[in-house]
Amino acid sequence: MNAETPLFSDERAAADRPLPKSGILDITPYKPGKATADGIAHPVKLSGNENILGCSPKAREAYLGAVGELNVYPDGRGGPLRAAIAERYRIEPERIVLGCGTDEILHLINQVFLEPGDNIVQGQYAFGAYGIGARACQAEVRSAAEPNYRIDIDKMLELVDERTRLVFITNPANPTGTFTTKAELKRLHDALPPSVVLVIDAAYAEFCTEPTFTDGLEMARGAPNIIVTHTFSKLHGLAALRVGWAFAPTPIADAIDRIRPPFNVSVPGLAAAVEALADVEFQTVSRDHVLRWRPWLTQQLGGLGLSVTPSGANFVLVEFPKIPGKTAAEAEAFLASLGLIVRGVANYGLPGHLRITIGLEEHNRALAAALAEFLARPA
Ligand SMILES: Cc1ncc(COP(=O)(O)O)c(C=O)c1O
Repeated sequence: MNAETPLFSDERAAADRPLPKSGILDITPYKPGKATADGIAHPVKLSGNENILGCSPKAREAYLGAVGELNVYPDGRGGPLRAAIAERYRIEPERIVLGCGTDEILHLINQVFLEPGDNIVQGQYAFGAYGIGARACQAEVRSAAEPNYRIDIDKMLELVDERTRLVFITNPANPTGTFTTKAELKRLHDALPPSVVLVIDAAYAEFCTEPTFTDGLEMARGAPNIIVTHTFSKLHGLAALRVGWAFAPTPIADAIDRIRPPFNVSVPGLAAAVEALADVEFQTVSRDHVLRWRPWLTQQLGGLGLSVTPSGANFVLVEFPKIPGKTAAEAEAFLASLGLIVRGVANYGLPGHLRITIGLEEHNRALAAALAEFLARPA
């Protein structure tokens, strides 16, 4: 994209049809994980990093209870949910912004900060939403190499210049599953000019129990240029309801609120999220399930000779051989033929890998057995 291209160029004015603004048609659309497998009525979906255990029964009840209010607009400020988040995380409610999923919040952050010709800095394998939103603002997307599938702070900093407005870190990252330590985040933040906002996307934070990990909230409390985002889609199992939130410095929260669609979180979404947050037992069971089966799957697939990136999230990234008959794409097709849908990540620049969400015990066992069969059969 040429950042110099004027928004309303002569070509656009002369066009015989409405043309999107410059750069929009250069954007590669987000590719969600597949949800169907040919010829299989009820496949197992391990492609979306959803909560395999479902959601809190209390959240489900709250969702059903909201059915009597379908004719009424939601509370545009999401008062009770913001209060519940504030209490749980001991943060100021006025610094919390709610979104129709983190996805919306990421778009809003880009819109608030980016002018044509500005840039964002992210990792090589960054979650696709950051770049899509930035490109829609006619900003440049700079991606720093991630040796060993980990964020490299120095490589990120090398890309920062006077037009950098936002630096995105996913912690733990999707699709790699790796995490950036507290010390690394602090070093990054300390080295950034105060005019640059560090966005820490903590969508999978609850699954990372390493002592050197942080979701960034502690750092963000006293910083004028850190935003942390969280979601109800992963640990809480409410992906269908689209509820995410950001903790931002007050002036940034205020700016985001000015362009936020006023009723962006639905009545059932708000009601269910409040109950989900209160249901600590469901959260513990969900996290413990991942903590039980993630090392198991890592070990089993490693035992088959596959390389599994150590993960702090509810999925693993698995590398396949480049040998014809044994590639990631062929493994994905083979698993799909058995009703196991996993995620090809070629669109993240990882054509040799698959991303696999931690499933129920029977899914994990079926997956390990299927991959053993796949690798053992003649190429
Ligand atoms: C890293 C990361 N951030 C944000 C999101 C989006 O979350 P939400 O469902 O809240 O929009 C996802 C979803 O997969 C994700 O992987």
